[in-house]
Amino acid sequence: MINIVGAGLAGLSAALTLAERGIKCRLISAQPSERAQSVLAEGGINAALDTMGEGDTAELHFEETMKGGAFLADPNAVQSLTSGAPGVVMKLASLGVPFSRNGDGSLMLRSFGGQKKKRTAFAQSSTGKMIMTALIDEVRKYEEKRLVARFPHHTFVRLLTGNCGCTGVRIKDEFTGRLYDCGGSVIAALGGLNGFFPSVTTGTVTNSGSPAAVMFAQGVKFANLEMIQYHPTSIAIPGKRCLVSEAARGEGGRLFSELDGSRSYFMEERYPTLKNLMPRDVISREMFFEKRAGRETYLDMTGLSGEVWENRLSDLRSEIMSYLPIDPKNVPVQVAPAIHYFMGGIYVNERHGTCMSGLYAAGECACIYHGANRLGGNSMLGAVFGGMKAAESAAVQQTDDAFEEYTGSDEFACCAAPGLVRRTGELLLGGLGIVRNAETVEAALAGTERLDCGNAVDEARKKLASAMLASALARKESRGAHYREDFPEPDDEYRKTTVCALSGGKTEITFEEIPERRQK
Ligand code: FUM
Repeated sequence: MINIVGAGLAGLSAALTLAERGIKCRLISAQPSERAQSVLAEGGINAALDTMGEGDTAELHFEETMKGGAFLADPNAVQSLTSGAPGVVMKLASLGVPFSRNGDGSLMLRSFGGQKKKRTAFAQSSTGKMIMTALIDEVRKYEEKRLVARFPHHTFVRLLTGNCGCTGVRIKDEFTGRLYDCGGSVIAALGGLNGFFPSVTTGTVTNSGSPAAVMFAQGVKFANLEMIQYHPTSIAIPGKRCLVSEAARGEGGRLFSELDGSRSYFMEERYPTLKNLMPRDVISREMFFEKRAGRETYLDMTGLSGEVWENRLSDLRSEIMSYLPIDPKNVPVQVAPAIHYFMGGIYVNERHGTCMSGLYAAGECACIYHGANRLGGNSMLGAVFGGMKAAESAAVQQTDDAFEEYTGSDEFACCAAPGLVRRTGELLLGGLGIVRNAETVEAALAGTERLDCGNAVDEARKKLASAMLASALARKESRGAHYREDFPEPDDEYRKTTVCALSGGKTEITFEEIPERRQK
């Protein structure tokens, strides 16, 4: 029996992979799959399908993923991702995902950031919703066959551990408050750490980040926590940020900054090759410097054709119009960067194994494919592919399938205090902005250390927040999404993975070598 914690894209993909092999799993999630963050994914999923006649290859996809990630990802993991990508997308198409198609029936691909070829398969700009719908439906067939047991509205409490590592997971029924111990291996598919940055994230605000914090407190190693992706184009909406998909720029949208009525198409001027489709870290940084100089950034989509609005971005247009009193077809939209994705997370090897035997991780919570900056379109790919890989690894090591109520008390069976969550978010944002320096990170770290914690979950969150800041302080260079004004250049000495572990209650940071690429 395998316990999957999280029922978004990575969790569903893992469940399906196991069920197709006749292996039983529990799919445990605080929310039903329909409310997972994956449904918010907009622009598309990458695969070198070469249906646009541009001569794209998996090797080019590999090279651009490595370069976009500033060469911080494990090249062997990236190679398996990029060579497996066409199979992943074709499988999704076979499950009924309504990808947009060319006249000859092949999948239509669009341009996305950091990539010279059209490589992103899409379903308008609701690709995540469409992929999730297909996977939810497919997994349902196996629920019927009793291979997948759903536990929606059950929250993660803690990992169960013994001499041989992770032996299961304790969960809480949010309706009855009862605790249950589920034996077997565990796949963490928790999503990102958005819950540490309430109100400034494009991610779902119901994803608290507490399960990751508890795992960290229980001794699970994390990596590259300083690598936080700011998506360049978002608009402010109540309580969070609304994504304006990179697809808008992939289809021809242009960024400009404006001061006193004079426009500068700064990305086109400074980066004449990829222009508005430079990797996100570069664009967000340029926007930061524009803003610092008093210039706001706008996304100009007024040149897009009626066909593009109708067939490829109609849902994006409706979304913008529902929040702003303007039609993006006619008027440029003021945009700002927002926290979108966490390249760092649970430290996993190429097989998605963690430092704890019996525990695997996949999707955004795992640090594996994206190095120092993720390319747009590689996230859903990493989630589906990672879910498959983690399931294959976990399947080798199946243990018991005990399921019993736990009637004792558990210090982690509680929620973080809202005030502490808010204050931690403010401190993290102060230290881990698009542009950082020792002074701002140290101030945030000192503030975090002083936080008053009322319970064990608060304590765990404080430890993980401190680990993010300590990682940013330790990496004395600029690479990908981590830009330090006091160390503005990359330094080869730091082309290593930042690994955080708790030792005697203290965070220890080490830098580990990145494996060599084995073969092409
Ligand atoms: O802009 C977007 O549509 C986001 C895509 C992604 O993060 O992969």
